Amino acid sequence: MSENSAGGTHRRPMPQGVVIAPSILAADYVRLGEQVAEAEEAGARWFQVDVMDGHFVPNLSIGLPVLESLRPVTDAFLDVHLMIDNPEGFLEPFARAGADLITVHQEVCPHLHREVHEIRRLGCRAGVAIDPSTPAEMLSEILPFVDLVLVMTVNPGFGGQSFIHAALRKVKRVREMAARYSLRGLRVQVDGGVDPETAALSVDAGADVLVAGSSVFRGPGTIAENYRALRRAVAVEV
Ligand code: DX5
Repeated sequence: MSENSAGGTHRRPMPQGVVIAPSILAADYVRLGEQVAEAEEAGARWFQVDVMDGHFVPNLSIGLPVLESLRPVTDAFLDVHLMIDNPEGFLEPFARAGADLITVHQEVCPHLHREVHEIRRLGCRAGVAIDPSTPAEMLSEILPFVDLVLVMTVNPGFGGQSFIHAALRKVKRVREMAARYSLRGLRVQVDGGVDPETAALSVDAGADVLVAGSSVFRGPGTIAENYRALRRAVAVEV
């Protein structure tokens, strides 16, 4: 892999089509590598790493050491969801640690265009996330500059919450905004409470990246069975 301008490795291509992206927030950290490998064997090519600071969200989760440990053992696309205040100070460290995509929250980025530009300068794909109460229209000016919009379908901070169905209207609005700008490559991601039923609803609304933590790592079956149940729900061929 080639070094990019910030010393990071060359980024992996974003998996295309409708993607089920397991969130490692729900994994067993004693066996994280094994569990990621099990999901990969079932077909997972994109994982989300949920970073929480206890300020922007009322919870603490994982950070750089976990990404640094995971990067060498998987060639999957690693999407870092920064649920933190002042993310600008952590863009380069997460890029160097191996993030392929970094998502920041619109709510904590008064200079969002600058953050998005920096994420791309570091060689990563750029995502912007909006909370359930943030209108899609807040993204109208930044849309042409990002690779992905994350429409939160729960209030950020915890896994295992119930899906907020009202957010599906927002997924549709983001797709409409993207169409107005002819942004055909824009990825629309949902995150929180995604299970086979809500996954299908999300794809119908226009989402193409479905983040699922509990339903993959703490679902009724094995990790592989749980992952495959989600793929069947959105009729994604193996
Ligand atoms: C919320 C987190 C969760 C996690 C997935 O801050 O971002 O949404 O990724 O959670 P569940 O367990 O609901 O799939």
